[in-house]
Order: sequence, then structure tokens, then C-alpha cells
Amino acid sequence: MTQNTKYDVLILYYSQGGAVREMAQLIARGIESVSGVSARIRTVPKVSANCEATEAEIPMNGDPYVELIDCEECIGLALGSPTRFGNMAAPMKYFLDGTVGLWLKGALINKPAAVFTSTGSMHGGNETTLLTMMLPLMHHGMVMVGLPYSEPELSATQTGGTPYGASHIGGAADDKPISADERKLCIALGKRLAETAIKLAN
Ligand SMILES: Cc1cc2nc3c(=O)[nH]c(=O)nc-3n(C[C@H](O)[C@H](O)[C@H](O)COP(=O)(O)O)c2cc1C
Repeated sequence: MTQNTKYDVLILYYSQGGAVREMAQLIARGIESVSGVSARIRTVPKVSANCEATEAEIPMNGDPYVELIDCEECIGLALGSPTRFGNMAAPMKYFLDGTVGLWLKGALINKPAAVFTSTGSMHGGNETTLLTMMLPLMHHGMVMVGLPYSEPELSATQTGGTPYGASHIGGAADDKPISADERKLCIALGKRLAETAIKLAN
């Protein structure tokens, strides 16, 4: 890396109620704490049962929609989705199902990736969502980055935060704020991802 080289790490998330979006912003803080790395935050549109439905190319508000070129240009990926029946939400899966062109080119091979989620209940699929979000990324040849137990919050947390990635437990009414431990683990995950990305990019 030359001194002035600037790299981007992509944070790609879907969020309906805002919890995963807030986690994305915390992960961005971790990414940007690493010299020479910026966070590029993108989202995906909702999907509809009506297959004629189309979204405007640019959302009315919030983060821009992701394009495949974002995945190619960035040196790493943090992928975030709310838990939906123990798995990632359909809009994120729909986007991933459209990345076959990237897979054919091997565009994501050897880039690091991390996952994050927000879940309603403590045992309602927090970890299964993280683990299953990894599968398509591994098909793409990405190198998974988790959280090590050297992060003290991983042992201390009473809510979310796992070795598989960052997580938040929103509660049945989805009204629980992101706890101090969950926040620190989001930031730590972003930092670790960016540090790994910069090593692998050089
Ligand atoms: C269709 C649907 C399915 C859900 N499935 C689960 C689930 O399996 N387990 C769980 O604990 N929470 C589940 N939830 C709750 C969401 O995961 C939770 O509210 C999450 O924090 C939302 O994140 P967001 O605010 O970023 O949209 C579900 C919510 C919806 C709307």
C-alpha cells in the first residue's frame, strides 16, 4: 500500500425498523478507525410478492442502494440483516441471489467478510442468522472474520454479541437500545474487518 492509497470496505445491510442500520453505523466507526480505510454504506430495496413492482433507483431517503460494482471495488464486506424466522431477510437474500456474475468472475475471492444481525428474542435465531449469512459469502470464496474472546464484552454481554459476528437483541417490541457491550462489539468487528482487509489487499 502506498501511503495515500485509500480503500473502501462495504457495509451492506437491510433494516426495516432501524436496529440493523444503527449497527451498520457502529461498524462504520470501527472500520474508519483504521488508517487508510473508509466505510461505504449501502442498503438493498424491499422485495415484493408482486413481481412487477419496481423501486426507484435511488431511495427517497437513507443510504444508497448497493450496486454490484460496490462489491467489486471494496476490499471487504460487512453484511447485516434482521433475523427473519431464524434466517436473513428476503431482500438481502434476493440481492445475494443476483451476484452470480461476481461469483463467475471470482470477484470476491480472498476478500474478508463479517456478518451482523438484530433479533427480537434471545434464542430466536440470533446465531443461526449469522451462521447462515456466512454460507453464500463462503461460496464466493470470502474469508470470514468473527470476534475473538480477547474482546471482554464477548464474555460479559447479557444480550447480543457472538464469536460469529455482531448481534443485538431488540426484545419482543423491538424497543431495547443497543447495549454498551453490543455497541463495543460492533465497533470491534468493523475494526478487525478493516485491519484484515488491508492486510489481504496488499
Ligand atoms: C417476518 C419477521 C420475522 C421475524 N423472525 C424473527 C425470528 O425468527 N426470531 C426473532 O427473535 N425475531 C424475529 N423477528 C424480529 C426481528 O428480527 C427484530 O425485530 C429485528 O430487531 C429487526 O431489525 P431492524 O430493526 O433492523 O428491522 C422477525 C420479524 C419479522 C417482521
